[in-house]
Amino acid sequence: MTLRILPGGRGEPDPPGLLITGAAEVVTMAGGLRAGSSQSEVDRHEAAAVGGPDSDRAPVVAVWEGRILAVGGRSDMDRILEAEGYPLERFARLDARGGAVTPGLVDPHTHLLFAGSREGELELRQQGAGYLEILAAGGGILSTVAATRAASADELAAHGRRWLDEMLGHGVTTVEAKSGYGLDLATELRLLEVAHQLGTEGPVEIVPTWLGAHAVPPEMRDRPDATETYVRYLIEEQLPGVAAQGRAVAADVFCENGVFSADQSRRILRAAIGFGLRPRLHADELAPSGGAELAAEIGATSADHLATPSEAGIDALAAAAGGDQPVVATLLPATTWFLMKDHHAPARTLIERGVPVAVGTDFNPGTSPTPSLPLAMTAACLNLRMTPDEVLAAVTINAAQALGLAGEIGSLEGGKQADLVVWNVPTSRQIPYWPAAQLVRTVVKRGRVVLDHA
Ligand code: NIG
Ligand code: FE
Repeated sequence: MTLRILPGGRGEPDPPGLLITGAAEVVTMAGGLRAGSSQSEVDRHEAAAVGGPDSDRAPVVAVWEGRILAVGGRSDMDRILEAEGYPLERFARLDARGGAVTPGLVDPHTHLLFAGSREGELELRQQGAGYLEILAAGGGILSTVAATRAASADELAAHGRRWLDEMLGHGVTTVEAKSGYGLDLATELRLLEVAHQLGTEGPVEIVPTWLGAHAVPPEMRDRPDATETYVRYLIEEQLPGVAAQGRAVAADVFCENGVFSADQSRRILRAAIGFGLRPRLHADELAPSGGAELAAEIGATSADHLATPSEAGIDALAAAAGGDQPVVATLLPATTWFLMKDHHAPARTLIERGVPVAVGTDFNPGTSPTPSLPLAMTAACLNLRMTPDEVLAAVTINAAQALGLAGEIGSLEGGKQADLVVWNVPTSRQIPYWPAAQLVRTVVKRGRVVLDHA
């Protein structure tokens, strides 16, 4: 197979139309945010039910000028397109050759940009060292901060392109990218600017998130009031600088006992909301720390990790799910796997309680160095006991909601951005079933073919 990664600029595709035919199934995820019993509803259109992928009634996807026109049966679609004035000769054809078609995957939680690597910590953890212990000794996040501060924008961009290509190769068309390895204003701004520029360059779309509150920086750690001093600096100096730059769309805090307390996280996120940033949290990753409760209280778009929420935290998320501002529980099972934890996020309970669940990679050099969202999908099936259909909702429409983009991406519905994947397996249920296999045949971003295994 030859792999082609094609430039994916914005502008109008030429010809303006694209018709995807020959799919064994088209899974649209139409219908908005999934929660509770609808977490497993994927809106699957199977060719086998109507005579096979080449039959007249087989499902096809029609795209026009970068947006989805419609999903429907082949001959109906031809008729409707003609009748509505979309000339068939203005449509390029893409034959899915018996593969499944899904929305482009959305990775709602990554620490995309950093320098260096931390393979040594894997061995330290094998010998029994704890994650926060390694951090307290100046390793962990702090060793990545030292490497990242020393890296130029060009070096960070080259690193970003390398890993975005990997993500695209796994079917991901939009990723969130956090800062958080600078912890000083200049480096945080550099990370956010590079994230923004890489998104402009495409083809993968990027949602930059400010994570200044990732750890207390080395230069402040010796003071007795180190965390409090840094929190004040974040609110009074770093955040206004980030807001003035205008690249970040969300703010995140590592809310965890021993890192930033729930009270400190509340102050940082309230200030960020004041600057128009969407709040989200690393919540209860290692121990119950009041993160889930805080996420519900402040109306966070997303509460991430949730490996160890308290009962009260789960109650708070369930109550928020019933209101008009549900908090998406963004679960990161590749992280608990890589940290060798035997305790996992209570996905079944969250789904039973009606909390919408998303899944991400948490791509970062310490706790989850995988760029593969399909691998995280497998971990969600095996360790969180989510079904393959629930997981598909978690990495499409619910992940889009966690990023505030559910109106634009995450499903194949008329008017939405035409981001989709043709897989070389006949059903989306096989995506988590073949871990670490290369299952992507073609990726379409904004109506253009941006990756193709010819
Ligand atoms: O999501 N927990 C905080 N942040 C990352 C890890 C970052 C790192 O170790 O470099 C996480 O696990
Ligand atoms: Fe993270």
